[in-house]
Amino acid sequence: MRVSALSPSNSAGGLTILLLLLDFITPAATVKHENFKTCSQSGFCRRNRAFADHALTPESNWVSPYEIKENTVLLQNGILSAEILKTVPGQTEKVVLPLNINFQKNGAVRVTIDELKRTKGDIVLRGESKARKERYNEAERWALIPDWDVRDDKVVYDNQKGQITLTFGPELKYKAIVTVYPFNIKFERDGETHVVLNDRGLMNVEHWRAQPAEPEEGKEKSPEDLDGGWDETFGGNTDTKPRGPEAVSMDISFPGYDHVFGIPSHATSLSLKTTRGGEGAYEEPYRLYNADVFEYIVDSPMTLYGSIPFMQAHRKGSSVGVLWLNAAETWVDVVKEKKTKTDTKTHWVSESGQLDVWVFLGPTPQTLYKAYGELTGFTKMPPSFAIAYHQCRWNYVSEDDVKDVDRKFDKHDIPYDVIWLDIEYTDGKRYFTFDPLTFKEPEKMMKNIDKAERKVVLIIDPHIKNTENYPVVEELKSKDLAVKDKSGDIYEGWCWPGSSHWIDAFNPAAIEWWKSLFKFDRFKGTAKNTYIWNDMNEPSVFNGPETTMPKDNLHFGNWEHRDLHNLNGMTFMNATHQALEARDVGKGKTQRSFVLTRAFFAGAQRLGAMWTGDNEAKWEHLQASLPMLLSQGIAGFPFSGADVGGFFGNPSKELLTRWYQSGIWYPFFRAHAHIDAKRREPYLTGEPYTSIIRDAIRLRYALLPAWYTAFHRASKDGMPIIRPNFVAHPDDEEGFAIDDQAYIGDTGLLVKPVVGEGVDKVDIHLADDEIYYDYWTHKIYQGKGKKEYSAPLEKIPLLMRGGHIIPRRDRPRRSSGLMKHDPFTLVLVLNKRGHAMGWLYHDDGESFDYKQGAYIHRQFMYNGSRKTLSSRDLHKDRAAAETYKKAASALQIEKIVIVGASNSLDTSALAEGRSKAKAILVEDDNGKVKEWHASLGYTAAVDKDHGDVLVIKNAKLKIGNDWTIYLEQVGAEDKPKDEL
Ligand code: GLC
Repeated sequence: MRVSALSPSNSAGGLTILLLLLDFITPAATVKHENFKTCSQSGFCRRNRAFADHALTPESNWVSPYEIKENTVLLQNGILSAEILKTVPGQTEKVVLPLNINFQKNGAVRVTIDELKRTKGDIVLRGESKARKERYNEAERWALIPDWDVRDDKVVYDNQKGQITLTFGPELKYKAIVTVYPFNIKFERDGETHVVLNDRGLMNVEHWRAQPAEPEEGKEKSPEDLDGGWDETFGGNTDTKPRGPEAVSMDISFPGYDHVFGIPSHATSLSLKTTRGGEGAYEEPYRLYNADVFEYIVDSPMTLYGSIPFMQAHRKGSSVGVLWLNAAETWVDVVKEKKTKTDTKTHWVSESGQLDVWVFLGPTPQTLYKAYGELTGFTKMPPSFAIAYHQCRWNYVSEDDVKDVDRKFDKHDIPYDVIWLDIEYTDGKRYFTFDPLTFKEPEKMMKNIDKAERKVVLIIDPHIKNTENYPVVEELKSKDLAVKDKSGDIYEGWCWPGSSHWIDAFNPAAIEWWKSLFKFDRFKGTAKNTYIWNDMNEPSVFNGPETTMPKDNLHFGNWEHRDLHNLNGMTFMNATHQALEARDVGKGKTQRSFVLTRAFFAGAQRLGAMWTGDNEAKWEHLQASLPMLLSQGIAGFPFSGADVGGFFGNPSKELLTRWYQSGIWYPFFRAHAHIDAKRREPYLTGEPYTSIIRDAIRLRYALLPAWYTAFHRASKDGMPIIRPNFVAHPDDEEGFAIDDQAYIGDTGLLVKPVVGEGVDKVDIHLADDEIYYDYWTHKIYQGKGKKEYSAPLEKIPLLMRGGHIIPRRDRPRRSSGLMKHDPFTLVLVLNKRGHAMGWLYHDDGESFDYKQGAYIHRQFMYNGSRKTLSSRDLHKDRAAAETYKKAASALQIEKIVIVGASNSLDTSALAEGRSKAKAILVEDDNGKVKEWHASLGYTAAVDKDHGDVLVIKNAKLKIGNDWTIYLEQVGAEDKPKDEL
């Protein structure tokens, strides 16, 4: 199914035959399991699971061999430092492990454990290796924002009878209780324990040791000769492990927590299943080792393309979290113990690096996401086109093809913003070139696409073709910017171009060079509206172990690939992101970048978007997508999507249609298809499908103001863009595990996509007793629990929760860029008491001027008792607000739709046609009151199960201004003629 590489052979003349077998023949059933390790095939995972099994057997009378050396404890500038001593059986000398507990002002805590011997370089590498000797300590340079370290200098210290208590955080609400022997740390909030490190004593820092000699015959192996700790072979590849065994592991318990979420990416449920076997449980731990696992299976803890080692534990009244800041291969076991309450207990194991855990004590999902974002950064504010619809396939094969697709979208009145070019646009898979036969005049193509304010995204992968007369590879080599093999020579492996080298984006010089490649005068044919897709950056290496790079490869600073594997994709994305922002787009302006990545780690949200990789055109993959994207939001990287339609295979028309109806709710909304899949642009599907898909895409476009506002919120405080039930309703215990419906930002829009074949109704879970209206018919759904919703093919199950105001733009256009001068509609969805509230964020959608205050940020409030709708400024900087308001003065709200109007207004006269009252009082910015003659439309409720709707047209309210409108008179009885 996938392109597979045959062994290369290099002849004396240089590069020879690249036999790439395009074996597109059989739509293979699933992922090739045998290509990827199970825990038992991975030495350090096997060892540490066995270690846990032993420790957890009551007969073992296990006591964790780690102890704090009390006279080393010191609290200084918000950091508690000490030495932990590890007792090794049969050895008198103890292993010294420096401990640091770093307390942050916002209440986050970092616990770092290193190994003194390795830190000092006091170890002997095996073989000829040039690798660094220390445990990797640079994950923070990539994952965390540069100024993350905002120390809490008010930590209160108390040390009594082997227990050190540290009181810290805002209002000294939190406690860390460190037990000296056996070492563990309990984290308390409000007098309760929420997180415990080394609760079950599964901490294990595999200290440095020389490889013991083979035992003499009949003699036992030395206990220091760890199973799988030395050379390890898998799938014909041998990993030399120059530093021997060096895994770090720790167990982390969440007492009283029944649900844990996060640690994407896995094709699994949002609430994580347990992993130690039994009914409904997995047998394998969740694996985090970025890999090209195409045609992945669903409902599995298997690793996928990206990793974020952030986990949230949630129960009624509390959310807490941990970040396991380690970029090496990592496995996480989850078990639950039910006594009176449920405790969730987790066990984390990484192959190398420091033991580095962050603890966040919540107490709400909001505070948790905020604290996590203050550390790893918030979602980058994307250019506005990036949240519209993207049309991709492997491949649009020529300029004519692109032109044709572009025209057909217009002909069929289907909006789209971006057309994508996959690897075939290049000249023989040489990135930064265009195929001279099929893309002769790329600049002209870009211009043509730009006419409708559309964009082109080009794929650029990290493997650079190893060939002659290709300046990019020549520079990569001559400037010495590529990843090296274990002996320090340039690493060569196989990917799409055949023999390739890989840019080492950990190297600052490589980033600078990469930036130079994207300059318009260097990457000829590209223009301002060209953006970039970074694929295969796990990295994918067709002939490498587990389809990736050997772990003993070397990166900048001689760090082994093993140490930083999960960061690799993100560093490449970072280089591209920087390169796009460095392009000279004229007028001294910088343009926001857009980069899509496949591989990622914590912090990648600062750089662009991700997608879930090579899914399949199957219903179960459609179903798996939403939980995966919800999980991305939990882990702070909400700009996420899944290939709409399914990458491999051919979706039925029904599946494709349902996928679009689902895909319009993905923060990143892109259709994509494999080169071997049939063409499936929405206009090809035929009626009624094309019309249904058109309507779905148009709904996405109408709601773009709401999406942009949700992105803005995510960029400020980390609230997910699409939110699962437990985030929107943190106290609704019945809804904690729900992952097949989602709320869109703060809009109160609740969507439950249809993801099953032939399905024409769904059950929507309502978390509270608020009124919910059907988006389409205004039918009322009310009462906590499941509600049946009829959903024939043409209908998207969508409710509006009472109490919200949704901003929209209702004029269908060809692209989002062409909507930029369009007026807004406000949809007020009144709650039981007649109130509603909502937000709108708006800026130019392309530059960074918003950082200087060039934006509009409004809060709309409908007060049901006073019957007023007002717009309030949330802008932080008054002066800047005024300037931008002027620039955006042409932008208006033209329509106000009030759903459930009779919850606030007396609509009886309107319903009976006895009122034509149209006089609405408007109070503007300066407190002046004007009378405005609106044109009203009123639709009475068809019955008591429906809401009524009042529409106020031609409102002409300036979007940037403060105003209040008084609706008291609306619907008042017309005065009899003789009274006039
Ligand atoms: C990988 C990507 C896929 C892309 C293909 C060719 O399989 O995941 O999206 O189309 O490579 O570049």
